[in-house]
Amino acid sequence: IKTQSDYFYRPSIHFSPVAGFMNDPNGLIFDGQYFHLYYQYDPTAPYAGRVHWGHAISTDLYSWQDQPIAIDQTAAGEAYSGCVVMDRENVSGLFPQRPSTAAAAVRSGETSLPSADVPAVSSAPSATQAAVDALSPMLRLDAPDAPPKDQAPGPTSMQSTGQPVNRSPLAPPSPDSLPVLGEPNSSALEKVDIQASESVPPAPVKPAAPPIPGGLVAIYTRATPQKQTQYIAWSPDGGQHFMDYAHNPILDIGRNSFRDPKVFWHEQSQKWVMVVVKAREHKVAFYGSIDLMHWMHLSDFGPAGLFGVDYECPNLIELKVEDRTNGTRWVLFVSVNPGGPQGGSITQYFVGDFDGERFQPEDTVIGLTDFAKDSYAMQVYNDMPNGAATYFAWFGNWQYCEEVPNRSWRGLMTVPRDISLRHDEAGWLRLVQRPRGLEALRGPEIPFPVGRIAAQSGAQVAIPPATAIEFSLTVTVDERPNAQPDGVQGRAGRFIVAFSNSQGETLTIGFDAFSSQLWLDRGDLNGFSQPFFTERFSTPLTADNRRFSLRIVLDACALEIFANDGMSVGTALVFPANPLDTLSLQATNAGATVQNVKLYPLRKTMNR
Ligand code: FRU
Repeated sequence: IKTQSDYFYRPSIHFSPVAGFMNDPNGLIFDGQYFHLYYQYDPTAPYAGRVHWGHAISTDLYSWQDQPIAIDQTAAGEAYSGCVVMDRENVSGLFPQRPSTAAAAVRSGETSLPSADVPAVSSAPSATQAAVDALSPMLRLDAPDAPPKDQAPGPTSMQSTGQPVNRSPLAPPSPDSLPVLGEPNSSALEKVDIQASESVPPAPVKPAAPPIPGGLVAIYTRATPQKQTQYIAWSPDGGQHFMDYAHNPILDIGRNSFRDPKVFWHEQSQKWVMVVVKAREHKVAFYGSIDLMHWMHLSDFGPAGLFGVDYECPNLIELKVEDRTNGTRWVLFVSVNPGGPQGGSITQYFVGDFDGERFQPEDTVIGLTDFAKDSYAMQVYNDMPNGAATYFAWFGNWQYCEEVPNRSWRGLMTVPRDISLRHDEAGWLRLVQRPRGLEALRGPEIPFPVGRIAAQSGAQVAIPPATAIEFSLTVTVDERPNAQPDGVQGRAGRFIVAFSNSQGETLTIGFDAFSSQLWLDRGDLNGFSQPFFTERFSTPLTADNRRFSLRIVLDACALEIFANDGMSVGTALVFPANPLDTLSLQATNAGATVQNVKLYPLRKTMNR
């Protein structure tokens, strides 16, 4: 049953599920044609539990086409978080052997196979069989349950969640063994009322691409209360469905808090690297493999930084240092829950070096990806075009995600964010985050002519109802005589950006020019209250500087603030009881000069 809140809080450019409960982004990969977004999903209820992998694809990271459930909960457990990689060369041996020439493929009718649609990805790795054979005895040590590579069962013994599968290496999976394409979420949605207007659009038809020997492989956690182990599954149809390897798990250390594998190709050491957490031990474990099937333990990192209760969803990536030519660093992201300084879920990061075996932080400093509390379990895309580093995070916090006022659907993703590093004015390397590709969504600019704003005055403009907006500006607050005391009557003023309505609700983003700190106040909104849904957050910006810039995205219940060109980011759920229809700027105590003001409506991309 849908409530008004289900419509009112539904974002128009942020991904959210049709119905049911969503948390972490999973399996983020660009396959040469489509961006895939898999996600932790219970399609049956607006609460966490019975976890499957939901799936959507996109060509721009904003317009998403829903796909069938990609990985089910099975008797072996729930399908917890994990990743997808492109096993282009079939180093896993999971994909059926096929004729090598296109002509043979056409003769055998193979071009109609879904798996022939998997396009080439130029950055995908190649590992020779000789190398696999040479190293696999060593790598086998950590996977005692898996058969040796040379005896790996062929396609004849693959199984899809216990179902019998058509065994012919050249035939597509039997129709009975897989959910029907384009039919969302099977019967699992029965508890949720989905109206016809929200029906899922048909999956786009992929043009034929040259066949490759391999395809997409998922590596993820199967979780039962007793055990968490790492599973591998291969996709016969370009990522729509995954078939579990028959001899899973591929990694089992006999624990019940061992999860969230993220695998990437490490070019320098020519192997696949997995980062995975020993959650309750507060450790990130690193494993290496050349065939994705046999994993060798390389090292552990942690406990480090925030302790919390569980370490979750680790990611490791080499990022560019923007203000240095050719400078890079490895950055390790670790989500922690609960125990974030703002309460509940938080993601910390460490800057350092990774030599293919060990992550070495370059100092004892930890960074937080957010100064608010609703950005969690981030995952970086594999195989992004042009080596871009782009992530999605779950827009939520475990402290209240199951109690937010929308009910028939719960959970959304952040906007896609490009990340890099930049030195701050004190010389520290800091994470920089910017929305990726938002410009393409802009509608006609809404004029908001502002220049000088005198002390104790302001300016305002109407904002369009039920539309996502992007607002940016640069502000320099006037200096006042030093003799003034600090604080509200003090030496420098406060500058406020407010979204409000005539029902008395206000969402405030403010800047204190004396201390150069930003605050966010979501407390004067009347749509939701809960003990952990804290109202105010703040962050220092550039020390001793009365100048700052903001880029704000507001989309129904989603507020994202990118301050000082992405150096400080705040991600906050906001629940007004009535539409926020007015944007105002106010200078208190000191006047301010406002520049680069841009206000855009953003084109709706989500078909919900
Ligand atoms: C993080 C997390 C992961 C786990 C998943 C279960 O939010 O707790 O550690 O794999 O969610 O849905």
